[in-house]
Amino acid sequence: MEQTLMIIKPNAVAKAEEIIGRVKQEGFTVRQTKTLSLTSQEAKEFYAVHRGKPFFADLVRFMDSGQIVVALLERRDAVTYLRKTVGATDPSEAVKGTLREIYGASKTQNAVHASDSLANAKREIEFFFNNS
Ligand code: CMP
Repeated sequence: MEQTLMIIKPNAVAKAEEIIGRVKQEGFTVRQTKTLSLTSQEAKEFYAVHRGKPFFADLVRFMDSGQIVVALLERRDAVTYLRKTVGATDPSEAVKGTLREIYGASKTQNAVHASDSLANAKREIEFFFNNS
């Protein structure tokens, strides 16, 4: 079994239960969830790999604009499978039925984040759940 991290972003928190239900239907076990707000500093640290990119300021401003729900998920091939379930960064390009196609509004407000590699999943899980 592999673990990965999902973040339900501020524009989709109202649909968190529904989104978590869909993820469970895809065979994930939800090990832990946490609802929290990021400070601007924490959002910058979490997305440090994107520092300097043109969308970085908007991304940080959005991610500290309201509550988020983080979920530690487990499944076989969890990282790859969650990326597939979440869909493309741009909701308008996401495959029908993927979470971003359903709940996303724009590239910044794309509803859900999913770790993009096993190494990043480990780092991101530790960022939010330092007991794991
Ligand atoms: P996420 O999976 O949270 O990881 C980084 C985020 O940056 C991404 O989702 C998008 O919300 C945002 N992002 C990535 N590329 C772009 C882009 N070209 N324009 C605007 N936002 C982007």
